Amino acid sequence: MSTILIIDDDDQLRISFERLLKEEGYQVCTAASGEAGIRMLTESIPDLVVLDVRLPGINGLETFRQIHQIEQKLPVIIMTAYGTTETAIEATKMGAFDYVIKPFDIPQMLSTIAQALEAGRFMRSPVDMDVAPDKIHGEAIIGKSSAMQEVYKAIGRVSATDATVLIRGESGSGKELVARALYQHSIRSQKPFLVINCVAIPDTLLESELFGYEKGAFTGATHRRVGKIEQASGGTVFLDEIGDMPMGLQAKMLRLLQERSIERLGGRETIPVDVRIIAATNRDLEVLITKGQFREDLYYRLKVITIWLPSLRERTGDIPLLADYFMTRFSGELGIENPGITREAMSMLVSSPWPGNIRELANTLQKALIFNRGAPLSLTDIAQATGGDVKNLHLTEDACDDSIRSWIRGLLSRGTQENLFENCMDHFGSVMVAEALNLTGGNRSQAAKLLGMSRPTLHAKIDKYNLKIETSVK
Ligand SMILES: Nc1ncnc2c1ncn2[C@@H]1O[C@H](COP(=O)(O)OP(=O)(O)OP(=O)(O)O)[C@@H](O)[C@H]1O
Ligand SMILES: [Mg+2]
Repeated sequence: MSTILIIDDDDQLRISFERLLKEEGYQVCTAASGEAGIRMLTESIPDLVVLDVRLPGINGLETFRQIHQIEQKLPVIIMTAYGTTETAIEATKMGAFDYVIKPFDIPQMLSTIAQALEAGRFMRSPVDMDVAPDKIHGEAIIGKSSAMQEVYKAIGRVSATDATVLIRGESGSGKELVARALYQHSIRSQKPFLVINCVAIPDTLLESELFGYEKGAFTGATHRRVGKIEQASGGTVFLDEIGDMPMGLQAKMLRLLQERSIERLGGRETIPVDVRIIAATNRDLEVLITKGQFREDLYYRLKVITIWLPSLRERTGDIPLLADYFMTRFSGELGIENPGITREAMSMLVSSPWPGNIRELANTLQKALIFNRGAPLSLTDIAQATGGDVKNLHLTEDACDDSIRSWIRGLLSRGTQENLFENCMDHFGSVMVAEALNLTGGNRSQAAKLLGMSRPTLHAKIDKYNLKIETSVK
């Protein structure tokens, strides 16, 4: 449960706001002055602070400064009255998450709170990479396949730079998770990380959300507003679903990347900004360019460092690992004992097509666990969780051929890659060996027989592909 600290000297507001937030399921603590708030915060760090600018004793801006010093990544929402918006703007430029004007509209305040909490979680909850299952703290990027090793290497390679990074991959393949890992391993990891989803925000609002506006820029612009890019100063902006950004805005984005400056809507001043851009999309940008829906110049600017996330079909060898990880994580969250998965059910998971990738695999296991009565998840449990029948989950040979073809087309379209052919063959090899071991419960003699090879050859392959063998008792 998230904890929110309210700092405001208005007793009435504190009481009613506390009640409202508690009804929404938050844990709340309150303080009537900046000094008291800071004292509470040093004892235990909340997930969010909502802070009034006008306070007795040290003022709101100074309180914000001190909070920011104690915990730079703690999101702070500033409450302000009409006459004091300049102070709130000052605080947002210094890294406050956002500000709201009193008397505030409750749904809008709740939505700002939800966004701020999410931003805080993104910045503060660690994403582990390539670590042993018992070392995982919260979320982790799981996968040992060569395709995932490439992803880890790419994250490592760009970590010491400020380079713009484009993350591409199908829906549910982990782009957002990788963006967070990139940020956490970057030289800007102590600075803000703001997420803008270009699809979730209506086109008309996206521009003012990103670039801000001056008072009078349009009807309803009653005061100046600092945009997310300026707000993330010194930090990182994650532009999710950039393939869906309107063309007009793409021009402004290009200018930001080339000149490192912005103009607020309705403003004449050129404002220099220091932000790192990480962008992601599941759209086929090359096709969008031919249709005139994506600017080619922006595409070239963005794609210099591209991280391609493999689909789950391209790394079926990782499925058992992912399944184990989700089973542990979700049973922990549900407060039940991990019932495990039967061998047949695991084979089915490995051979299913997963068009929705990891998100679909995770959802399936979560659903299956909710209805589980303690026995290891069976074929039927999984089939029920996917809402389908067992037959549909097995790939027919044709469908399998189609997936392989589309996978290979994807690989070839990425341009020249060293040892591509060998790497692909190794990938197939590792899937086949893993599958044979899976079917035989880790029995190497039987697996070697199934594969039509000698035991020493199988051993060599297991070593080469770095496969983890789990022997099961029949
Ligand atoms: N390698 C991974 N290991 C463990 N969990 C993962 C991995 N990749 C993704 N996930 C989980 O799968 C879900 C979907 O991932 P994410 O939101 O990053 O996908 P996405 O590529 O951004 O999808 P979309 O294009 O639909 O936005 C999340 O719950 C994420 O935590
Ligand atoms: Mg995403």
